[in-house]
Amino acid sequence: MSQHAIEGFTGRRGLPALRLRDSSGAQADIYLNGGHVTSWVNPAGEEMLFVSDSSRWQQGQPIRGGIPLVFPQFGPGPLPQHGFARTSQWKVVDDSREAGVRLRLESSSETLADWPHRFAAEVLVGLSGESLDVCLEITNEDESPFTFQAALHTYFRVADISRVSLEGLRGVTFVDSLRERAREVEQRQQVRFDRETDRVYVRAPDLLTLRDHAGHRAVTIRKENMPDVVVWNPWIGKSRRMEDFGDDEFTGMVCVETGAVENTVTLQPGETYEGRTVLTSVVAP
Ligand code: BG6
Repeated sequence: MSQHAIEGFTGRRGLPALRLRDSSGAQADIYLNGGHVTSWVNPAGEEMLFVSDSSRWQQGQPIRGGIPLVFPQFGPGPLPQHGFARTSQWKVVDDSREAGVRLRLESSSETLADWPHRFAAEVLVGLSGESLDVCLEITNEDESPFTFQAALHTYFRVADISRVSLEGLRGVTFVDSLRERAREVEQRQQVRFDRETDRVYVRAPDLLTLRDHAGHRAVTIRKENMPDVVVWNPWIGKSRRMEDFGDDEFTGMVCVETGAVENTVTLQPGETYEGRTVLTSVVAP
């Protein structure tokens, strides 16, 4: 069982952050802005997550990279894109018994103005050797049911996107956001990237493997109670259109997001949803 150390530090542009380390040498940084994991370094000292050099580091703005928390809406809709969790200020839940960092976000007059439901959200980030464990909990603190979407919008760092493959999605139906939400069944054993990709794989298997062939490493993605997987790379055109993303950075990242997107979650008063994803870094020849 590895030992943890947690320390607060001043992050980029003065934003408050926490660093979690374990005895294997692994570490993770978590910003209170968005309850956002911005870095995950494996015991070999390799950064596993991508963060854009053009990211904004500003309170109330999303960070481009790492693991943005998507809640209560995925994508565009009545709320701001991907919901308000990623732009809200989360609070640290101090509990020395906790095996990691726990942050909390509660409904406030601001969230209630946008989304009229009382809730409490908590994210627990843990490290254990080669694994990063992220658990998202949402509790209905209201008197009537509510429905939401949620996701861990993980940006993986890769050496060369043209030599990346994602395994585990064969036979899964996906909704293609680039073709007016056309539905199709994935035929490939290995999903590869040679163009803009923006798909929601519906009810995907709970274990996927992302292989970064040029980087000689892989990561397994094991999810629980997060039925859907979003796969996204903006490629050339969209990279140029995004202000907080470099024109060439699409070659060094891919998002494999786990969550409840097509399959929304409904909670009765007092109920809690718990979704979890464990990422494990693997050395590949
Ligand atoms: C993905 C969406 O999850 O997030 C894409 O499927 C979107 O359509 C991408 O472009 C990034 O979103 P944002 O709001 O962080 O620019």
